[in-house]
Amino acid sequence: MPSMLVTGGAGFIGANFVHHVLAHTDSSITVLDKLTYAASREALEGLPEGRVRLVVGDVADPEVVDPLVAAADAVVHFAAESHNDNSLRDPSPFIRTNLVGTFTLLEAVRKHDVRYHHVSTDEVYGDLALDDPERFTEATPYNPSSPYSASKAGSDHLVRAWVRSFGVRATLSNCSNNYGPWQHIEKFIPRQITNVLDGTRPKLYGSGENVRDWIHADDHSSAVLAILERGRPGETYLVGADGEQDNATVLRLILELMGQPADAFDHVTDRAGHDLRYAIDSAKLRRELGWTPARGDFREGLAETIDWYREHEAWWRPHKDATEARYAEAGQ
Ligand code: NAD
Ligand code: DAU
Repeated sequence: MPSMLVTGGAGFIGANFVHHVLAHTDSSITVLDKLTYAASREALEGLPEGRVRLVVGDVADPEVVDPLVAAADAVVHFAAESHNDNSLRDPSPFIRTNLVGTFTLLEAVRKHDVRYHHVSTDEVYGDLALDDPERFTEATPYNPSSPYSASKAGSDHLVRAWVRSFGVRATLSNCSNNYGPWQHIEKFIPRQITNVLDGTRPKLYGSGENVRDWIHADDHSSAVLAILERGRPGETYLVGADGEQDNATVLRLILELMGQPADAFDHVTDRAGHDLRYAIDSAKLRRELGWTPARGDFREGLAETIDWYREHEAWWRPHKDATEARYAEAGQ
């Protein structure tokens, strides 16, 4: 796979994927990223100049996208508006980037017959009851809850339509909740870590019984690369590492690892339409492509992530006040 176009490669998971590809293949990469509030140029610093270049631009702009796709052997599409709470405040950028952006890329890969991988989320399936013995599989019906997850669900449907009607060579992956370095501090785990580092009490939505299925971003990257290299065109693969934990348990683990009392947090206003539980059955990916997660020890991964945020205060500090001000407006 000599030349890859990675959209959203300056974001949390996209940047992790760029590092992963450079370390495990001989591909060169063009990153297309609009550098929104969620992006970090820093995450791409120090990489070999001959193998990575950054193009600042919008995935929904065909004039930017078309020549970049024409020059690529494969496109991996991470770029998105990614935060549920933001989508509840203002859905409009989610529609433009996640739907029009995907449409724009699909038209370009169709025109130039370029292999395409679409990165999506388990949230397209809605949520499960806490005591449901089932987990999400590739056959679970779509039932998204938020403007974010509905926009991602719509983008998945576009990909499948372009596969069936136009023969586009695409694969899809739907992954569970990622954690690790470079995740924006608006998200649950880095928000609570940086609250503790800041001397502020962590904030738990509602009862804290909601369950998320945590996976380290390194494992998501290895799954996407495996699907890109060996996945069957037209197929969807669910990505997960059997990491179900309720939010209150994750928060108490953060507090314990950071030397804080177990009750040193506040319950705050719940998220509107808050999905109760996500759980991934990744048997297809494991069986067909031989993928397994390498970073399955959540406690160890979380401890490393806490250390990373301690060591990278200069990166997150400039965004902390504005991020918390947005939450304060919503009583969160
Ligand atoms: P992120 O918000 O950290 O990064 C998104 C990146 O996309 C940023 O660099 C941003 O600048 C860029 N971007 C946004 N709009 C753009 C546009 N119009 N044109 C070009 N670039 C644009 O997101 P993330 O958490 O790294 O998620 C990446 C992808 O993975 C998304 O598609 C998301 O739906 C999916 N995903 C995320 C998770 C998770 O837990 N974070 C889990 C499953 C799937
Ligand atoms: O499941 C995959 C999805 O995971 C991705 O598609 C999204 O891009 C990603 O943001 C993530 O979505 P969530 O909404 O699950 O993640 P978030 O980090 O926002 O919240 C995780 C859980 O923690 C959720 O139940 C809400 C809760 N929460 C969140 C914040 C920010 C809190 O209790 N307190 C908080 O301060």
